[in-house]
Amino acid sequence: MVEVSERVRNIGFSPMRKLLPFAEKAKSEGVQIFHLNIGQPDIPTPTPYFDALKRYDGADSNRVDEYVKSQGLDELRKAFVEYTKLTVEGIDDMTIDNCLITEGGSEALSNLSYVLFEPGDKIVVPEPFYANYNTFMGVNDVEIVPCTTDIRENFSLRNIVSEIKRIVSEDKKVKGILITNPGNPTGGVYTAEELDEIARIVKDNDLWLIADEVYREIVFDGENPRSVLSIKSIRENTIVVDSVSKKWSACGARVGAIFTYNESVLENFLKLLQSRLSASRVNQEASAAMIDADVSILKKRANGHNEPTSVELARDEYSRRRKAAYEILKKHGILCGYPKGALYLIAEIGEKDGIPIDAEDFCRFMLEEFRVDGKTVMVTAAESFYKTPGKGKNQIRLAFVLNEEKTKEATEILCKGIEAYKNK
Ligand SMILES: Cc1ncc(COP(=O)(O)O)c(C=O)c1O
Repeated sequence: MVEVSERVRNIGFSPMRKLLPFAEKAKSEGVQIFHLNIGQPDIPTPTPYFDALKRYDGADSNRVDEYVKSQGLDELRKAFVEYTKLTVEGIDDMTIDNCLITEGGSEALSNLSYVLFEPGDKIVVPEPFYANYNTFMGVNDVEIVPCTTDIRENFSLRNIVSEIKRIVSEDKKVKGILITNPGNPTGGVYTAEELDEIARIVKDNDLWLIADEVYREIVFDGENPRSVLSIKSIRENTIVVDSVSKKWSACGARVGAIFTYNESVLENFLKLLQSRLSASRVNQEASAAMIDADVSILKKRANGHNEPTSVELARDEYSRRRKAAYEILKKHGILCGYPKGALYLIAEIGEKDGIPIDAEDFCRFMLEEFRVDGKTVMVTAAESFYKTPGKGKNQIRLAFVLNEEKTKEATEILCKGIEAYKNK
């Protein structure tokens, strides 16, 4: 019998999908579900995006939606590079040649697995990590070597630096490190010292560093966004992945980018972009207009204007929701990471009868049994964000994708649900 490839057979389904049938059933019974389970921002996409689409209003039978440059539209690369130069220190020499447009951060990550690695190579990734990395790397048979960060250490890299050093020096199959900063699912933001440590390991062992910075400007408490693009000593080793999906709340645009100073990566990555010919022109035009609007605002800063960019407005909204959810969880004595960025938080829901709670079973319980005034909450069991078996079993991930009021109500219901589960 014909058989699909073993590589793809070995890859799991998205953990987000597992519990959907239970959610559908609850909804059909009239239950209101607060969805804290997916990273789909609810913040409106900035209006310049949709304004740019208006140029296509009205019928014009002679119009053709053509392929555009495989590298991406120059106007979008220019906007993305300008924005990045205005928000990241020490990259004044960056040009549009250092940027290639991809269909979301997803295409960038999956292409990088082919461009940087041979099948059988390994890549170190701090866990918990964005579960789709398993697919992006798995299709090219690149093995993820997880290094576990701890919720009690707020998922910091500090404690795993020596472990990473040990792995890369002992295992010559390790060819790279992949970090997500700010982190999904942790909400962690790495310090300058942590990034310098990683840079030293990358330099000393001549590794690739992929930095997934799709949430880069979503950092709270007045922190400045930090990018590994600023670390000059590892310029040739570094590839940064970016996207309009989260920061500009434009997931449907499917527009992302890589930024790198490495000429060979740029040249060879382009071959893969050429094979898929072109990304959507219309979405690129709209994204360029949207990023340009923020570039104009940032440029006016020099003249004392204080208008916030759309990304900063989104950041402030996520910050309020984060604070609301975190404080409620703490009030109920639930251990959780303190998110310093992105739109997620991991909470540990404890034990039942002396055994760590199975978070997936808890998530099902919330959908199947637990109601407060006909409402319940959907969250994601965090185990699938870990590669090490048994890790994160009693952890859940919350996404701040509902407004502050709804986040508060949903988090209260969640805490009551945890209590009820323990006592049932
Ligand atoms: C950490 C991380 N990287 C990459 C992506 C991919 O996003 P997109 O392909 O929409 O740019 C996501 C989406 O949730 C993410 O959370």
